[in-house]
Amino acid sequence: MFTPEELRIPLRGDGDQRSDVELLHRFATSVEEQSRRMAGFPVNLEFDYRPLAPFLSVHLNNAGSPGQASEYGLDSKPFEQAVTAFFAELAGGEPDEVFGHVAHGGTEANLFAAFVARERYPDGVLFASREAHYSMPKIARLLRVPYVAVDVDATGAMDLSALGREVGSRKAPAIVVATVGSTGRGAVDDIPGIRRTCSDAGVDEVYVHSDAAFGGPLAEFGQPRRPWSFPDGADSVSVSGHKIIGSPLPSSVVLVREVDADTIRRPGVAVGSDDDTIGGSRDALSPLLLWYALRGLGRTGFAARVRQCLEVTEHAVRRLAEAGRNPARFPGGNVVLFDRPDEQVMRAWHLLEVDGRAHLSVMPHVTTELVDRLCADLT
Ligand SMILES: Cc1ncc(COP(=O)(O)O)c(C=O)c1O
Repeated sequence: MFTPEELRIPLRGDGDQRSDVELLHRFATSVEEQSRRMAGFPVNLEFDYRPLAPFLSVHLNNAGSPGQASEYGLDSKPFEQAVTAFFAELAGGEPDEVFGHVAHGGTEANLFAAFVARERYPDGVLFASREAHYSMPKIARLLRVPYVAVDVDATGAMDLSALGREVGSRKAPAIVVATVGSTGRGAVDDIPGIRRTCSDAGVDEVYVHSDAAFGGPLAEFGQPRRPWSFPDGADSVSVSGHKIIGSPLPSSVVLVREVDADTIRRPGVAVGSDDDTIGGSRDALSPLLLWYALRGLGRTGFAARVRQCLEVTEHAVRRLAEAGRNPARFPGGNVVLFDRPDEQVMRAWHLLEVDGRAHLSVMPHVTTELVDRLCADLT
């Protein structure tokens, strides 16, 4: 849309940015136009944070521990704590036993959880399903933890008998990542089943991280509820901010047990505050955005938003079946795979390809009207 020459940064700025603002407005219009057909990626595009514009002309920084002001002093940590408290309650964690912060995205959240797990079990092996997020093998490499990709069943969820064989053959502590809403098919790994399987395989040192980046709220509020959280057997949980909630910036809330956070905490070294996160300087805007969105929704509004996604998913399955596209959906999920249309339609609707099929992700901005427009293009 722009040539590199148009965007090149000059040696000397002229201080008059009117034409740059005009160029950015053109870009914004094009992005807005494209987002009307965003149907493939699990991000919500329905939000409006413009009342928070004053925060674009100040530098807030949440460096250091979420519960302690740093020497920098300008932070949004009280808001970060309110957001993590909301998620800790949603995930059934005891307020005094859970330590949470807002990370810069799902990958960093998974890294943090795997980091504390590795500190608990330095000789542990990391197990995740073949359909787990691609960050998992990368994180294993970063942490130098042996990694095993476990086979999945026909629905895309971790195959527990395969897990049992893999865990049993190693006789090492098991760090298992349960994917709650896989990126490809929306499949949900069975956390209580994972615990049972490890125990049956004779391994009692087990850490389970629930990577609930986009499936946690669906698991909690769907009918029937699916296990995904602390009471279900998770030692840590992460849920993304830019997925079901929606935000212009990627973010993720990660919750671990306070006793595990203790093992990585270094007192006072982060600008006068404890260091118990991955980032040094930490995003202070995302906690404000998430707080603002959640204050508007409340728990009941959040649940209603999730149920709306599930209702629209049912509509999409019906309409795609009528269009002869053989839709398939993980039970209770918001991802629908269907027979792939031609390249032009794939691109126009930002559809991903999974197993040779097209991938629709029903996020809050995906309405029945948008589904109908997509199906009209398909036929
Ligand atoms: C299940 C799951 N985990 C982790 C991630 C990684 O999140 P991010 O892209 O914010 O790093 C994703 C992103 O799609 C995901 O679907």
